[in-house]
Parts: sequence; C-alpha cells; structure tokens
Amino acid sequence: MPSSPAPRTAVLYPAFVATLPSMAGKTVAITGCTSGTGLVLARTCGDLGARVVMLNRPSPRADSALAALTGQGIDAVHVPCDLQSFASVRAAAMRLKEACAGGVDVLCNNAGVMGLPDLATGDGYDVQMQSNHLSHFLLTSQIWPLLETAADARGEARVVNHSSGARRGRPLEAAYLQANGGHLGGDGFPGLGKWRRYQQSKLANLLFTYALHDNIAEQRPAPTLTIKSLCAHPGPTDSGLQAKTADAGGTRLLDRYILQRTLRTAQSVEDGALGITRASCQPGISSPGFYGPSGKGQGGPAELLPPERDPHGEALLWEESLKATGVTSFFP
Ligand SMILES: NC(=O)c1ccc[n+]([C@@H]2O[C@H](COP(=O)([O-])OP(=O)(O)OC[C@H]3O[C@@H](n4cnc5c(N)ncnc54)[C@H](OP(=O)(O)O)[C@@H]3O)[C@@H](O)[C@H]2O)c1
Repeated sequence: MPSSPAPRTAVLYPAFVATLPSMAGKTVAITGCTSGTGLVLARTCGDLGARVVMLNRPSPRADSALAALTGQGIDAVHVPCDLQSFASVRAAAMRLKEACAGGVDVLCNNAGVMGLPDLATGDGYDVQMQSNHLSHFLLTSQIWPLLETAADARGEARVVNHSSGARRGRPLEAAYLQANGGHLGGDGFPGLGKWRRYQQSKLANLLFTYALHDNIAEQRPAPTLTIKSLCAHPGPTDSGLQAKTADAGGTRLLDRYILQRTLRTAQSVEDGALGITRASCQPGISSPGFYGPSGKGQGGPAELLPPERDPHGEALLWEESLKATGVTSFFP
C-alpha cells in the first residue's frame, strides 16, 4: 500500500486561514470529515466559531473525528449519512432539518471514494458515482430549504462541491449516472475501468456546480440568488484516499503507478484543503466559482480557475441525476 513516510508539512494553509473572518453564528455541514480535507475544513470552520455538522457514515473513525473536534471546544455534531444509500441520505436530510432550524450556511459536498471495483450500491448505481455525486445531488436538494433559511437570515449560503484533477479526459456519459452499477467497464486487465468511473464522478461534481448555479438563476426568486454554487479541487494530496483505493483491491500495475505518482507529488492534507476552505469561508466569492491549483497534477494555492462549461454535459447531468435520485423537483 503506498504511503508517505511522515505527515507532510502545511506550507500555505496556516497563512491563508489567518486571513479568514469569524464564522460565529454560521452552520457548516460537511460530508466525509472523518479524515482528509473534510476534517481539516471541519476543524477550521469550528475554530472560526461555526457550528459544524459532520455528515459521516457511522464508524469508529466518525466517532474519533467528532471527539477530536468537541475535545477542542468546537461545537460539532454527527449526523449519520452513508452516501452509498439514498435512504440514508434522505434520513440524514431529515435529521439536519431537525438539528439546524436556523439554516445551513455552507454545505460542503466533500466526501469521495476513488478507484473502487465495478460494484453496484444497493440502489443499483456505480459505487463511485453514487458516493461522489448522486448522493450529494440528493442531499443538496433535500436540505435546500435550510440553505434558503440561512441566506435569508444572514445574506448568503453556499454549496461547495469537491472535484479532482482527474475530472479531465472524456465528456460525461449518461451510462455512468444510470443504474448500471457492476457493468461499467469491469475490473479486467489493464484496469482502466475504475479510473474512468472515478473520472466521470469527479467531472459530475464540477458539472453539478454549473448546472446548480444556472438552475438557481432560472427557477428561484431573486433573494435565493444569494445561494452560491462553488467547486474546488485539491491537487494531489496525501490523505487517506490512496490507501483506501489500495485496500479495495487497487494493486494492479496501473493502480500502483497512479497512486505512487500522486503521492510523489502530493502536498499536505491542509494545503489540499485550501480550495474547499476558500470556497466555504472566504468572503466575496462569486457564483459559480471553481478553485484549485492551476498546474496539472500539482499542488499549490487555490486559485480561481477558468470556467470549464459544457452545456450539453450540464443538462445531461441534471436530467440523469433527477431520474436516478427520484427527485421530481430539485427545489422543494
Ligand atoms: N487526496 C487526493 O489526492 C485527492 C485528489 C483529488 C480529489 N480528491 C477529492 O477530495 C475529497 C476528499 O478526499 P480526501 O483526499 O480527503 O480522502 P479521505 O481522507 O479518504 O476522505 C474521504 C472522506 O469521504 C468519506 N466517505 C467515503 N465514502 C463515504 C460514504 N459512503 N458515506 C459517507 N462518507 C464517505 C470518508 O469516510 P470513511 O472514513 O467512512 O471512509 C472520508 O471521510 C474527495 O472527494 C476526493 O475525491 C482528493
């Protein structure tokens, strides 16, 4: 299993965080904050005074992450949310509505899995596409009224998606968003299928950002334009992600090449969190916005990147995601 010998040092993150204003009075909900960039964002928002809702699937990792934050005096709560199950996501949304009557100021759809085998979830979708995109689409729709409550009360709210440098390569294909789990390229030699499925799911994160922005503008009354649709990508980052790919059977030559190449150039998990932190916390951000390192396959500061609009892909994404999640109207 590829791993780095010692935790990497945060080069850029501390100075950036020092520029951020207080988040007191705000609520930030984050998926996938047992480790990695999500945990860094949760700690940062908590340190800035926000209430943090940790949307994690139940596990000892989720318990430890919650204990670590509350032990530092952060106002954090765990809401169980397994992104491999639409029923779990719907239940988490109900819990959020009970726990966050004052609204949700930031929903960061951060969680992700990478390079998993060609497996169907219980709902029939590709495990990577459902975890990385479809469930986040459903969650965002289900808690929309909470974002509106926050925007009305405090001037704006944000949805922040987490994409990847791996989003590049091929346009979005409907098959990856449909109930074809287990039949999307397989795991045979040379093993490209899992990386194509990951590429499609991470492209979906970015296209969702643009499609959401446009749908807000078209369908919602003017006040809700204050809900911003944003995206980030971290650049290669030494988090728990690579180890999980290897543990899930990612041991082919191609897998080892991709994972080791990522770790060779990887930055610290804090610096990898720069993009989602900027999109979640920095004042004066415009929608839609995409933040991350500008180099290919490199880390670095989270810059505002040129738009990567694809009207056909965005329309396809929206239509297929509605069908897959059974959402008849995205804005309830
Ligand atoms: N690290 C990189 O080089 C890199 C590069 C590009 C993009 N990214 C993206 O960055 C994001 C964060 O990843 P990371 O690098 O910080 O990796 P990480 O440390 O492995 O964090 C991923 C998080 O997602 C959660 N998660 C996975 N499946 C879930 C499910 N079914 N339900 C709920 N939570 C689930 C994990 O929780 P568990 O503990 O329950 O597994 C974990 O908290 C991902 O979207 C990833 O695609 C990372």
